[in-house]
Amino acid sequence: MGSTFVSKLPSCTILLVFFLSCASFTSTEAFDSLDPFGNITIKWDIMSWTPDGYVAVVTIFNFQQYRHIQAPGWSLGWTWAKKEVIWNMVGGQATEQGDCSKYKTTIPHSCKKNPTIVDLMPGTPYNQQIANCCKGGVLSSWVQDPANALSSFQLSVGAAGTSNRTVRAPKNFTLKAPGPGYTCGRAQTVKPSRFLTADKRRATQALMTWNVTCSYSQFLASKTPTCCVSLSSFYNDTIVSCPTCSCGCQSNITQPGSCAEADSPYLESVVSGSGKNSNTPLVRCTNHMCPIRVHWHVKLNYKDYWRVKVTITNFNYRMNYSAWNLVVQHPNFDNVTQVFSFYYKSLNPYGSINDTAMLWGIKFYNDLLMQAGRLGNVQSEILFRKDKATFSFDKGWAFPHRIYFNGDNCVMPPPDAYPWLPNAASLGQISLNKLIMTILSIMAFLYACA
Ligand SMILES: *[C@@H]1O[C@H](CO)[C@@H](O)[C@H](O)[C@H]1NC(C)=O
Ligand SMILES: *[C@@H]1O[C@H](CO)[C@@H](O)[C@H](O)[C@H]1NC(C)=O
Ligand SMILES: *[C@@H]1O[C@H](CO)[C@@H](O)[C@H](O)[C@H]1NC(C)=O
Ligand SMILES: *[C@@H]1O[C@H](CO)[C@@H](O)[C@H](O)[C@H]1NC(C)=O
Ligand SMILES: *[C@@H]1O[C@H](CO)[C@@H](O)[C@H](O)[C@H]1NC(C)=O
Ligand SMILES: *[C@@H]1O[C@H](CO)[C@@H](O)[C@H](O)[C@H]1NC(C)=O
Ligand SMILES: *[C@@H]1O[C@H](CO)[C@@H](O)[C@H](O)[C@H]1NC(C)=O
Ligand SMILES: *[C@@H]1O[C@H](CO)[C@@H](O)[C@H](O)[C@H]1NC(C)=O
Ligand SMILES: *[C@@H]1O[C@H](CO)[C@@H](O)[C@H](O)[C@H]1NC(C)=O
Repeated sequence: MGSTFVSKLPSCTILLVFFLSCASFTSTEAFDSLDPFGNITIKWDIMSWTPDGYVAVVTIFNFQQYRHIQAPGWSLGWTWAKKEVIWNMVGGQATEQGDCSKYKTTIPHSCKKNPTIVDLMPGTPYNQQIANCCKGGVLSSWVQDPANALSSFQLSVGAAGTSNRTVRAPKNFTLKAPGPGYTCGRAQTVKPSRFLTADKRRATQALMTWNVTCSYSQFLASKTPTCCVSLSSFYNDTIVSCPTCSCGCQSNITQPGSCAEADSPYLESVVSGSGKNSNTPLVRCTNHMCPIRVHWHVKLNYKDYWRVKVTITNFNYRMNYSAWNLVVQHPNFDNVTQVFSFYYKSLNPYGSINDTAMLWGIKFYNDLLMQAGRLGNVQSEILFRKDKATFSFDKGWAFPHRIYFNGDNCVMPPPDAYPWLPNAASLGQISLNKLIMTILSIMAFLYACA
């Protein structure tokens, strides 16, 4: 009896742990506690009826605080509910025409059952543009540039219904940004959109409006993390590097393509010959194998202030990160005094808790994080005012709780590896060498305090 109990217990525990981990994946991965309402909403406004269908304006709104869509831009797909075709498009295009052989006189723009739409490039002739189109599919994050966080195109649909009772919303919306990550819900009939004329003296409204909401999951976007955090401080000369294999491991079998040494001829050949599979990163060989590393250095200690230096390093040879952003959670962000050479905005989705900030580059100065190499990093310093009630260098308090790069959570070192304040080390165990170092760093610490 005892043995059945013992043998049952582990399997139950394993099952329980398994269910718990599944539950935490589904709940925490899609729900982002720092941007609880973040989503991309697609609004489909029917503006007029035509003899065999309708003309619609489709607008994609990026309501995410810090996640953006960078080049090569979004692509939007759906499956038609009936046998609809697209007669023509303005401000966007279907990637494939498909089989239009049924049509004899006028040939539609696309006859695909499941068309994929992409944005047009900047510089498109004016007669093919509509408002908010033609940005190469790039959508800014809501905080960085709300005016550029939306994108529109117009399409004229044929073989569709011609009244609000006979049209059917498309099904199975897919949004690629440009890779996976977003899951879209079903189209909902909502209150028709209202539009104000330029002089704001007259409002018109859509004949019918559908909304589709898409949400992001980092787990769907990439099976492995994409960035990691390393730490250091003036009071301890240990540099806590990113955890080994944060984003992958250096393959033991020489596997060209997994990573590249900075000065290898192989690197020259793949970088110059790249372009096609630029979606898969080619990273520099490191212990962490991440395309992005964020380093947080506790730099200086003043009487009433303390100062941190943040460095973001790009290890990806195939990517210039445009309009990058960083989200940092640290309890002292309620008393941030100055952020040098980055823009800053406090994020507080829960009203009273003010411990999270978003940082991003200044246009034409450091908003482009260049591909791996000599120029592949950006830096800033942050000055915090000490709140005597909470401030401490003890127990890793000076280090951030959480960091996101472009909306993806970065792998942090384990808390017990954080650089210690020297006097927290147990005196009984330190060697003479360590003792000297400790004394030196205490002196440095006291010097900086004074
Ligand atoms: C999408 O985001 C907007 C703006 O934050 C919000 O008003 C709306 O409720 C969100 N929709 C969903 C389904 O979460
Ligand atoms: C269709 O339009 C009629 C009036 O034109 C309106 O009463 C009805 O609610 C609309 N139905 C839908 C599904 O929008
Ligand atoms: C929805 O779209 C995806 C990708 O385009 C496709 O694999 C899937 O079969 C579609 N589902 C339906 C029900 O059309
Ligand atoms: C539909 O989307 C638009 C634009 O995102 C938004 O203003 C509107 O509130 C949404 N309607 C509903 C019912 O969610
Ligand atoms: C690589 O191979 C060596 C020897 O075969 C082994 O000791 C080491 O653990 C391997 N490293 C990884 C990351 O697999
Ligand atoms: C990054 O930008 C630089 C300068 O504009 C350019 O020379 C380089 O080819 C770009 N790299 C990639 C991977 O796009
Ligand atoms: C959070 O604290 C910072 C620094 O004191 C301040 O600038 C910001 O306005 C605060 N944000 C909110 C929403 O209270
Ligand atoms: C820090 O910020 C909090 C909340 O904004 C405020 O109550 C407190 O006085 C500030 N402390 C200092 C030292 O400025
Ligand atoms: C610095 O911190 C590390 C932990 O990361 C600790 O092992 C080491 O003893 C500390 N050094 C000193 C001089 O206290």
